[in-house]
Amino acid sequence: MTHAGEKTPFQSLKSGPLKGTAAIPGDKSTSHRSLMLGGLAKGKTIVHGLLEGEDVLNTAAAMRAMGAKIEKLKDGIWSAEGVGLGNLKSPSQSMEMGNSGTSTRLLAGLVSGHPITASFHGDASLTKRPMGRIITPLESMGAKFETSEGGRLPMTVHGEANPKSITYKLPVASAQVKSAIMLAGLRGDGVTTVIETKPTRDHTENMLRHFGVKVDVENLADGAQAIHLKGGQDMVAGDKPIYVPSDPSSAAFPAVAALICEGSEVILPRIGMNPRRNGIFLCLKEMGADITFEDERTEAGEPVADIYLRGTKTLQGITVPEERVPSMIDEFPALFVAASFASGVTRCTGLEELRVKESDRLAVMVKGLESCGVKLEMGQDSLTIYGNGQPPRGGALIETALDHRIAMSFLVMGLASEQAVTIDDIAPVATSFPHFVDLMNRLSGSPSIKKAA
Ligand code: S3P
Repeated sequence: MTHAGEKTPFQSLKSGPLKGTAAIPGDKSTSHRSLMLGGLAKGKTIVHGLLEGEDVLNTAAAMRAMGAKIEKLKDGIWSAEGVGLGNLKSPSQSMEMGNSGTSTRLLAGLVSGHPITASFHGDASLTKRPMGRIITPLESMGAKFETSEGGRLPMTVHGEANPKSITYKLPVASAQVKSAIMLAGLRGDGVTTVIETKPTRDHTENMLRHFGVKVDVENLADGAQAIHLKGGQDMVAGDKPIYVPSDPSSAAFPAVAALICEGSEVILPRIGMNPRRNGIFLCLKEMGADITFEDERTEAGEPVADIYLRGTKTLQGITVPEERVPSMIDEFPALFVAASFASGVTRCTGLEELRVKESDRLAVMVKGLESCGVKLEMGQDSLTIYGNGQPPRGGALIETALDHRIAMSFLVMGLASEQAVTIDDIAPVATSFPHFVDLMNRLSGSPSIKKAA
């Protein structure tokens, strides 16, 4: 789905304390991978807790177009019947990727390792995003790409019947690039090795193991890792279902909201606590937040915990360690909001990847925060926010730039800023958190977030 056409502005007003338990939708990264790998492996995979957001629905449609049988059984429960490794077919039409970089890059990897051709297109945001980062390694495995200017979408991928296994050192910390190479490497002629100097989310590795594929991880010097994957392994649906944890990236929004709305008491159950994803919660704790992790457990190979948050204290500014950036790459917009309410300075560096997300998140956040009265200083890959321990003024109209996380960040900000905050369009929220507004209003106990008049 694209978000062309009419925009629907929404506004958030000062809320009282947030109270209650909120079920956060399934993790987007894990949901994508469950449908891709379930749609590839022999046999039937049942997925519980699938995120039914637009991005994941685009992955479902694409896998169907390439021959997999993907069905919704009930709300959140889906089945995927795979075609068997090597048996994907060319889709008859260009595939709609909407806003989803993860769908595009991972599926391009899958196509690259099959003797098929597939075209991809997306919305205005996705069309601006760089594909060169996957094209370079996938071409060296034998795939061929036709792209629009600058290596952008629309893009056609001609896959390789006998892909060459490669060793590739990631030039950017990107789980999408790592995953694209691994998915092509499933049919490689030897061992594909991806080296990452800054470890990124490892859901592809974890889920491949669920399907019986051996993935070896070698620890190298200075925290770097080499991931080794031998091509041609059997991939079969496990007899156990996949249980998708609740998305820590989505949880970050009600979490920050609870911390800035004084007197809040919020519980977020079963949140994914993969150490490659939980940087935001470490930061909030370091900022002095009243936050505890209860019943920490492992479900279907992924750590999860119930998060308890209380809005009892003014947050303190921190310096975010640069090595933590990959583990909270999607959560910086939410962190910037928290930092705007904090007392003292919050410094973030190593943010260059924020510039190539669904929007240039550094520039778009800075513009919005400044218009809400927040004092800050932006560099090419850094941001310093000067908090004074008081709620920012708010009172601005924010350009969301087709970016769900920008939209949710400013709606959270409006719940505690002096004046209401308006976003120009609510539509992007549906990509990752379809019931965000209802959930927040339930916690607030009043319609604090609503359509702008
Ligand atoms: C994702 C990886 C990250 C993240 C994105 C989801 C994934 O992107 O920002 O939302 O599921 O692999 P990069 O790989 O570009 O860092």
